[in-house]
Amino acid sequence: MSDFLSAYSIQNWLESCPQGYLDGTEFGHLPGEGEPELLLENDILREDAIATTVQMVVGERCALAASSGLINAAPDEGSRRYLATQTLDEARHVEIFTHRLYDLGVRKDQLEDVIRRYANPNLVRFAEVLLEKVDRKDFVSGVVGQNVVLEGMAFSVFEMMHALSSELNPKFGRTLAGTIADERRHVGFGENRIGSLLKQYPEKKPEIERMQKEMSYWMLATFADSFRHNQTQAEMERLGQERPHSDYQGVDLGVLSPEQMEDVLADTVLKEFKTRLGRIGVEYQTPARP
Ligand SMILES: [Fe+2]
Ligand SMILES: [Fe+2]
Repeated sequence: MSDFLSAYSIQNWLESCPQGYLDGTEFGHLPGEGEPELLLENDILREDAIATTVQMVVGERCALAASSGLINAAPDEGSRRYLATQTLDEARHVEIFTHRLYDLGVRKDQLEDVIRRYANPNLVRFAEVLLEKVDRKDFVSGVVGQNVVLEGMAFSVFEMMHALSSELNPKFGRTLAGTIADERRHVGFGENRIGSLLKQYPEKKPEIERMQKEMSYWMLATFADSFRHNQTQAEMERLGQERPHSDYQGVDLGVLSPEQMEDVLADTVLKEFKTRLGRIGVEYQTPARP
């Protein structure tokens, strides 16, 4: 337990994160870095970027509500202090992706309207399943929902986005890299803390398994919508833009159709869930395919 506490202490967080990989950054990227001209000048690409970033803001707002809400549900001081660091990480993620919306031309007074217009209803349902556990102060379910399911998803989605965009958009790539480093820490906490709690409360498992199945369903429905509505690939082809040949999970993303990308992402995330849940002693439930 003491190793666990020092790994997730505020001191450790300060040294590795604000004084470490975020040192010298501004809203998660290098000062002066901007979105590429191509993106800002083309309405189709810009709208796709706005729609994608809105999903990130929605997901991060949920993570902020969950991590802060779980502080007062935590059974021990170490978890409370750790969750205070995560709360600040998530608030920062909300801020940097909100800032990206401004960089993409969203006016500040339009922000909430733009978020409402583009927020995927399936992602909103996904968030509601988790926040209901948090509202009931159900710490064990809340941490599995947040630090295993939500963040396991975010982690894989951000890694795919990083592979897709860092070459053409170094600013967004840098923002994603910092966020991925944060999410890695959050996922680690979930596994480390919950494994022992679930041994104490094995009767929680069926409820957690149902939650995972339900959240996974809404997640897959969100992926399906996102890949099917995304115009970026077709527009890039029309413009004669060469697609970057970046590797994700051993696959060249530069040759995949949107449907194939959706399959790779869904398989990656579900495999991750299975592995991580297995480590904490929860049996993975295969979701229905939307
Ligand atoms: Fe986050
Ligand atoms: Fe997170």
